[in-house]
Amino acid sequence: MKVLHVVGARPNFMKAAPVYRALGGRGHEQTLVHTGQHYDALMSDVFFKGLEIPDPDESLNVGSGSHAQQTAAIMSRFEPVVLARKPDIVLVYGDVNSTVAAALVCSKIGIRVGHVESGLRSFDRSMPEEINRLITDQLADFLFTPSADGNENLAREGIAKEKVFLVGNVMIDTLIRFLPKADEIFPKLKAELSLDSFGLVTLHRPSNVDDESTFLPMLHVLDSLSEKLPLIFPVHPRTRQKWSARLEQCNSSLRVIAPLGYFEFLALQKNARVVITDSGGIQEETTYLGTPCLTLRENTERPITVTLGTNVLIGHDWELLESKFHEALSGGRKQTGRPPLWDGKASERIAEILTRLAP
Ligand code: UD1
Repeated sequence: MKVLHVVGARPNFMKAAPVYRALGGRGHEQTLVHTGQHYDALMSDVFFKGLEIPDPDESLNVGSGSHAQQTAAIMSRFEPVVLARKPDIVLVYGDVNSTVAAALVCSKIGIRVGHVESGLRSFDRSMPEEINRLITDQLADFLFTPSADGNENLAREGIAKEKVFLVGNVMIDTLIRFLPKADEIFPKLKAELSLDSFGLVTLHRPSNVDDESTFLPMLHVLDSLSEKLPLIFPVHPRTRQKWSARLEQCNSSLRVIAPLGYFEFLALQKNARVVITDSGGIQEETTYLGTPCLTLRENTERPITVTLGTNVLIGHDWELLESKFHEALSGGRKQTGRPPLWDGKASERIAEILTRLAP
């Protein structure tokens, strides 16, 4: 079987890596296409090297732009590639613009699409990712879900259950594989940061970082929380571009640094006393690691991280943030569990299903 994988943005890389490995292990012919949605070395190259993903066979170099510009550029540059390479199936990952763009191209030229991390829903259509999820799932021929809520969402949207496979979480496959490496580098990282105890912050959602009226109060609260516990804040380029001057004015306990590589970030997540984020994947990783996670969003497409895991939705309620922050610091960790099938074998399940059903 000829499999073509499409990746484009940082969170795609750790999802594609284990699936590529599992399919390679079964002898399938594979192509990797990088759309170039993320292009800075710290947002892209560093993950290819660390996660042992081969260099892309094709780079589309689309770069940034409005949603329409970026999605259209990916589509028009991807179509000739897929026509020339004639894969039996194209695999797309997660919910970024590269995911939906590639799925649209394939569905119009009759090439089967597999969607890895299917079925997640925030029920918030103001999020660009929610639109990407809804459309990609309508178009996909194989839908691989990380948790049972995904299957329920897809059934509600009328998607035939024969196309849907509950396989578990491929991002956790990568986490489990590389946790020993993160543990190995942590002592050096800790010495470099000269911190015994710390929290970790990431923020990049347009709904949090685009408007002054939202972002500045948020930054103010983080700045004041950092006086109680130093906070490490690796800043996404989107956030950095908009707010570099403001970020420089923060007190020195809010450590504003460049984006980190996968191993470094994983090591910090595991050892942080609390993580404050608006990322999707980090909600999942902290649940697996048992680290308290305070999510600065009103909703989540990953509800299992709240019901079973360590995640608490804070929205923009700063009193709640302070109280949950102090709870985490006083050792009040929730007794949590790991979701079923988040066991490091999700990619093997995908490879087995595709080998059996899409030869
Ligand atoms: C994208 C995804 C989001 C994901 C996030 C992870 C969509 C709609 N959004 O958001 O779901 O959580 O990636 O990081 O696909 N930029 C750089 N260098 C880069 C990449 C981006 O400077 O390598 C800057 C550009 O100014 C760009 C902005 O960041 O305009 C936003 O990048 P974009 O890819 O549009 O979306 P993200 O916010 O990264």
